[in-house]
Amino acid sequence: MSVFPGFARATVVVALLSIATASSASEGETLYALNCSGCHGRDARGMPPQIPDLRASLPLLLSTAAGRGYALRVPGVAMSIATQQQVRTILNWMLPALIPGGERYTPFTLAEVATARRSPLTDPESARALLLDDGYGDPR
Ligand code: HEC
Repeated sequence: MSVFPGFARATVVVALLSIATASSASEGETLYALNCSGCHGRDARGMPPQIPDLRASLPLLLSTAAGRGYALRVPGVAMSIATQQQVRTILNWMLPALIPGGERYTPFTLAEVATARRSPLTDPESARALLLDDGYGDPR
């Protein structure tokens, strides 16, 4: 019945292609946008000094075991409404996608995320000041 069968077919193909594109968009990217970007920004640059620039801080933090533990225990991560699995997906997407040199770091395991969830930091500023000397988290 279509007056423009070619057009209709093309429309269906375009529609299917956009569904395929949407579903192939990284799950980590979507979860990050929904759970983290409100504070950290789409590109993780944050709004220092209140919200740290993860592109600068994460490489430093992830170079030590204590820093890696801290990064998983900050309230935004350990208290996220995202599930443990989703948090792991987000972090392991972020590393190569947003953090310069992030692909060098060992991907996070579900066990690490689960452990951190049991001990969220109640004073992240002080914990951070012990690990990083970038001005944020200085005792006031
Ligand atoms: C309500 C705002 C907010 C949300 C939402 C949030 N964060 Fe944060 N995040 C912060 C702040 C502020 C800090 C600095 C430490 C602190 O005071 O908690 C931080 C620290 C961090 C750190 C440690 C790096 C550093 O420099 O201290 C990581 C890693 C991190 N956030 C990742 C995430 C991820 C991943 C999500 C989403 C699951 C998320 N955050 C959601 C505000 C937020």
